[in-house]
Amino acid sequence: MKTKIEFIDSLSDNKYIAEAAKVINDGGLVAFPTETVYGLGANALDEEAVKKIFIAKGRPQDNPLIVHISCKEQLNKYVKTIPEIATKLIKKFWPGPLTIIFEKKSVIPNITSANLQTIGIRMPNNKVALKLIEESGVPIAAPSANISGKPSTTEMERCIEDFDGRIDYILGSDKSDIGLESTIIDITSNPPCILRPGGITLEMLREIQSDIYIDKAIMVKDNEDFKPKAPGMKYRHYAPKAKVKVVEGDLEKVVEKINEMLHNYIDEKLKVGIMATDETIKFYENNLVVSLGSRRNLASVAQNLFETLRKFDDIGVDIIISEGFDEKDMGIAIMNRLRKACGFDIIKI
Ligand code: TXA
Ligand code: MG
Repeated sequence: MKTKIEFIDSLSDNKYIAEAAKVINDGGLVAFPTETVYGLGANALDEEAVKKIFIAKGRPQDNPLIVHISCKEQLNKYVKTIPEIATKLIKKFWPGPLTIIFEKKSVIPNITSANLQTIGIRMPNNKVALKLIEESGVPIAAPSANISGKPSTTEMERCIEDFDGRIDYILGSDKSDIGLESTIIDITSNPPCILRPGGITLEMLREIQSDIYIDKAIMVKDNEDFKPKAPGMKYRHYAPKAKVKVVEGDLEKVVEKINEMLHNYIDEKLKVGIMATDETIKFYENNLVVSLGSRRNLASVAQNLFETLRKFDDIGVDIIISEGFDEKDMGIAIMNRLRKACGFDIIKI
């Protein structure tokens, strides 16, 4: 398949948005930017089109998709009820990186929701995404635009890497601001439960309702006692080709441990990449060391995380060692992605 690839600087490049919207209307696939990560979109109401998403990504059929809308008023068409808590969340956080799980109306095909009776809906805060949804006139089902299992994409070049020749259109724009996928909150249960941490933090959500909690299963390795409530959270995810190791604990000791591991791996003739922070980068005795950003600015760490994993794959390192982060604010979402990226191979010191 020939993939049309266009980069747009501003909304005045309307021609390309119109082209991409037509692809959506014709049942095709379009990768497009959002503020969280790039999405791989199809008409959420078109079963055949949605099927193509699963094929292009190599995505398991039991993993439901998030439906993206361009204005709050559209929500009524797709969900059975809008509880008061949802109204509050929408008022405060939409458009933005918050996906809300509702009971779905039957107009949403079962393939989109992977046979669940619920559906995750989000209004993204990205002008290109909103315009694309609006122009196409349909809700857009979009998982992250990456081959299943790999780190999500935050730049157009990475969508090209994963999907050139596999989808109809790649509509590129700036890199994603947030860099991690949306927070998912299930409001069909009481109290509401966070199924995936993201840019809207637990602390922010608790300002709306204090008993909101995080699904514990997502922070531990999948096992019989703890099954994650979001089907997608049970799969191997965010994994580069290199093996990932995460070292957590007192920062000084973490640096010491990483240097020790580094020397051992180098003795074994392995190529090692280190994910450090502004505060620690100077302490590493390695030439392949990247700072994810400052520990005082976890938003920058989040923004750089997936791209850094992918860059180390470009260089062809065998092992990526990352420092851990405190699990508060954005640190929860960052650690959730890191834990999955390393397959829970965490060294606590
Ligand atoms: O930021 C994002 O949310 C990005 C952009 C493109 O919007 N999308 C995204 O989609 O991350 P995806 O498909 O990569 O992740 C969706 C996650 C999966 O873990 C899936 O299992 C979960 O959401 N999910 C979707 N619908 C659900 C439902 N009805 N109940 C529980 N979990 C659901
Ligand atoms: Mg994904």
